[in-house]
Amino acid sequence: MVALTEEMKTAFRTMKAFPVATASKGGWPNVVPIGFVELVDDETIWIADNFMKKTLANIQENPKISIYVWGGPETKGCFQVKGDVEIRSSGPEFEKMQFTVHSKMAKAPAKNLLIVKIREVYECSPPDRRPGGRRYFNFFLRDPCRDLSWTISAAHVGSDRRNPSS
Ligand SMILES: Cc1cc2nc3c(=O)[nH]c(=O)nc-3n(C[C@H](O)[C@H](O)[C@H](O)COP(=O)(O)O)c2cc1C
Repeated sequence: MVALTEEMKTAFRTMKAFPVATASKGGWPNVVPIGFVELVDDETIWIADNFMKKTLANIQENPKISIYVWGGPETKGCFQVKGDVEIRSSGPEFEKMQFTVHSKMAKAPAKNLLIVKIREVYECSPPDRRPGGRRYFNFFLRDPCRDLSWTISAAHVGSDRRNPSS
């Protein structure tokens, strides 16, 4: 478990849509992309509920959430946040969220504000990509959606074999 670093906060700001995972009380998982996700402070994330159905139902019966943050190969840092969620449908914080959402999407329902209290933050990067990590893996990343391949090359620790043209 790690604390939020500046690198992580930058990655957070560069994300366009965040994979947000919840689970039913019985443990059945659900993950959706969510655009309105705001890091309010080091311990708090706000999420706007516009269209949530299963996500909202899961949170009502199991108020926990996990958010994955990776802004792409050009950004440093990849991490996962886990937290407890509270649902707000009135009050000043809810109204602030509604104002923000409506300033970008006038007709968005903005029906609930999900307030996430961050409990745990984990690094997702492979060990050799972490700050201070050892270079045990060569990581070939061409297109994250189509072509993600790894080679283990402990014999080449420290050598640069990231050229994807081979
Ligand atoms: C790029 C993108 C951004 C989205 N942003 C939001 C959002 O900010 N809030 C929201 O409630 N739904 C958003 N959605 C819709 C959710 O991904 C999802 O369709 C909705 O939560 C219903 O799924 P569920 O029933 O599994 O919760 C977005 C969808 C996409 C593709």
